[in-house]
Amino acid sequence: MPLVNGNLLVEFIQEQQVVGGAFNTTNLETTVGILEAVEETKIPSFIQIAPSNIGLAGYEGIVEMVKRQARFMDTPVALHLDHGKKLTDFKAAVRAGFNSVMIDGAEFDFEENIRYTKAAVDFAKAYGVPVEAELGAIKGKEDDHVSEADCKTDPKQVKEFVERTGCDLLAVSVGNVHGIDEEPQIDFDLLAKIAEESAVPLVIHGGSGISSSDLKRMKSYNVVKINVASELRQSYIQSIGHAYDSNPAEANLIAVLTNAKNSVQKKTVEKIKELNR
Ligand code: 13P
Repeated sequence: MPLVNGNLLVEFIQEQQVVGGAFNTTNLETTVGILEAVEETKIPSFIQIAPSNIGLAGYEGIVEMVKRQARFMDTPVALHLDHGKKLTDFKAAVRAGFNSVMIDGAEFDFEENIRYTKAAVDFAKAYGVPVEAELGAIKGKEDDHVSEADCKTDPKQVKEFVERTGCDLLAVSVGNVHGIDEEPQIDFDLLAKIAEESAVPLVIHGGSGISSSDLKRMKSYNVVKINVASELRQSYIQSIGHAYDSNPAEANLIAVLTNAKNSVQKKTVEKIKELNR
């Protein structure tokens, strides 16, 4: 199946009454591991990459990699840009053929976030690519980027933000944190208020470390996409670390990387099942 547009993927997710994971990739092995897991579980899902991770493959390279793999799959997948903070990255991803993109204007104040997001939405619209925006800032650590901002989404701003920006998905801050250094504390009362105000489905970032019972509840609050990065990255790195520990002279690269790919696949299957218990 070819890659599908992000809006169509959300329709599949809603029709099947599941939650789509959005799994962060970095390179060939993580891409293959994630997509094999999606195909195994048959749950429509996003595969995504942030500009911070694009250095190895480039935007065109990741599009080609994901497209080639998706052709052999029966489960719908969309390729999403995670945390497009700069318009140059956002535009590069759209032009390269991403099916869904995020513009992250969370560092700006309300009015500036609306202006920045709206400009991105207008650009992506011409390509028919849906946009995820962020209102409120998500705390935590992504690779070497640490954000101390911890500003939960204000439900009173949601309706106006969605209307004025024209975004298709809304990422919210409700006690979710990026990375695994801090324990997330999901405020479901706040999430409920936001869900009532938002005309578009919601996205939860920081899926690593959220308890299974909390993940399971998300679906009831119009959450269609939950981002997971750190747990997959850890499984990949740990697999390579174990290979080195058991034989520091190991030179069989294909065996080591195949095991690393398999560990990403296994972890992704676990997370997809956890999201949809
Ligand atoms: P985790 O690393 O906590 O899973 O967060 C991933 C994420 O939200 C990417 O945008």
